[in-house]
Amino acid sequence: MNNFVYRNPVEIVFGKGQIEKLGQLIPKDAKVLLTYGGGSIFTNGVYDQVKSALAAHQVTEFGGIEPNPQYSTLMKAVEIVRREGINFLLAVGGGSTLDGTKFISVAAPYEGADPWDIVEAGAKAEKAIPLGSVITLPATGSEMNNLAVISRKEQDKKLPFSHPDVFPKFSIIDPTVTFSLPQRQVANGIVDTFVHVMEQYMTRPFDAPLQDRQAEALILALVDEAPKVIAEPENYNVRANLFWMATWALNGWLNVGTLQCWATHMIGHELTAQTGTDHGRTLALVLPALWNHQRKEKGEKIVQFGKRVWGIPDGPTDKMIDDTIAATKRFFESVGIRASRAEYGVTEEVIQAVAKMIGSRQPLGDRANIGEKEVVEILHLCD
Ligand code: NZQ
Ligand code: ZN
Repeated sequence: MNNFVYRNPVEIVFGKGQIEKLGQLIPKDAKVLLTYGGGSIFTNGVYDQVKSALAAHQVTEFGGIEPNPQYSTLMKAVEIVRREGINFLLAVGGGSTLDGTKFISVAAPYEGADPWDIVEAGAKAEKAIPLGSVITLPATGSEMNNLAVISRKEQDKKLPFSHPDVFPKFSIIDPTVTFSLPQRQVANGIVDTFVHVMEQYMTRPFDAPLQDRQAEALILALVDEAPKVIAEPENYNVRANLFWMATWALNGWLNVGTLQCWATHMIGHELTAQTGTDHGRTLALVLPALWNHQRKEKGEKIVQFGKRVWGIPDGPTDKMIDDTIAATKRFFESVGIRASRAEYGVTEEVIQAVAKMIGSRQPLGDRANIGEKEVVEILHLCD
C-alpha cells in the first residue's frame, strides 16, 4: 500500500426532520449566505424548513446556481459575500449548488486577480469562508468531500479543484427531500455513484484487498437497491440507503493507499462542457468504451469485478471482459440510462474538441496513458 493521510472532518446529520437542527449547527452571530439552484427547494418544502430553522439568523439569499455551476454566476455571489461581509455559506440543493458554494468559499477571500486561477492554474487560496450544506440529491458525494467541479462556458471548460478547507462543516442529509427528484436525476445519481466507485477501483491489482472488497460491497449494495427506487419511489429506507451509498462512494475512504483512474470523469466533464449532457449520462456513455479500450491495462480488475459483482463464470479473458462490460451497460439501462452518442450530440467535431482539450493537459489514468489520441479512440468506441 502507498503511504497516505486520511482526514474527513465533515459532521453528517442524517435522517428525517434533521433540517430543523440547522439553527444549532450555524453560529448564532454568523452572517449567512444561503445559496440554492433553480428553485426545486421552493416546490418541495426544503426552503421553508431551512428558513424556519434559521429564523434567528441573519440570512441573505443567492439563487440561480445552475447544474454544472458556472463561474460567471458564482462570481455574482462572490461580490455579495465581499460587499456584505458574509462569514458563513449554506448550500441548499444538489451537488452543483454545493460545488458552486465551495468555489465561492475560496473565491471571495482570494486576493489574486482572478479566482478562476484557483480552479485552472492551481493558485493557492489562503482563506476559505466556512460552509455547511443541506444536500438534496444523492450523487456527487460533495456533501462529504473537499472537491468541486466548476464550469466556464465562455471557454468550454469544466474543471475540478480541491481545497482542504472546503469540506463542509456539516452536511444535513434528509432522505425525504429526495422524494421530489425527477426519475432522470435519480438515475443520474445512481450511475454517478457507481462510476465514483469504479474510478477508485478499476485500475490494476495493487494488493489492497480491503479497499477492493469495500468497493465491491458498495456496488453490490447499490445494485440491490437501485431497482427498488424505481419500483417503490416512496420507500424511505431505499432513499436513505441510496443517499448513504452516494456519500460513501466519494468521501475518500475507498482510494486510500491505492490507485485511481479518473479518466471516465475527465472525458465526461468535457463532454458536458461541449454538449450540456448531464454528468451521469456522460459517464454511462464513456465508461464501457473506456474499459473496452483499456482491456489490456485494466483486464485483471475487470475480470475480478465481473466475477465478484456480476457473477460472470470463468472462461477466456476477452469473453469475461466483454461480458462484464455488457452487464455493466445493462445495469445503467436498468435504471433508465441508455447512453447514446447520437442522442447526446457527440459529433465528430465534439470528439475532436474534447480530445484536444484533454490532450492539452496531463495524460489521464493510473498509467498516465490516455491522451488526445486515446480519447478520440475511446469516444469512437462509444455507442
Ligand atoms: O437547481 P434546482 O432547481 O435545485 O434543481 C436541481 C437540478 O435541476 C434538481 N434537484 C436537486 N435536488 C432536487 C432536485 N429536484 C427535485 N428535488 C430535489 N430534491 O436536480 C437537477 C440537477 O442538480 P445538480 O446539483 O446539477 O446535480 P448533481 O447533484 O448530480 O450535481 C452535478 C454536478 O456535480 C459535479 C458534476 O460534474 C456536476 O457539475 N460533480 C461533483 C463532484 C464532487 N463535488 O465531488 C464529483 C462528481 O463526480 C461530479 O463531477
Ligand atoms: Zn461524478
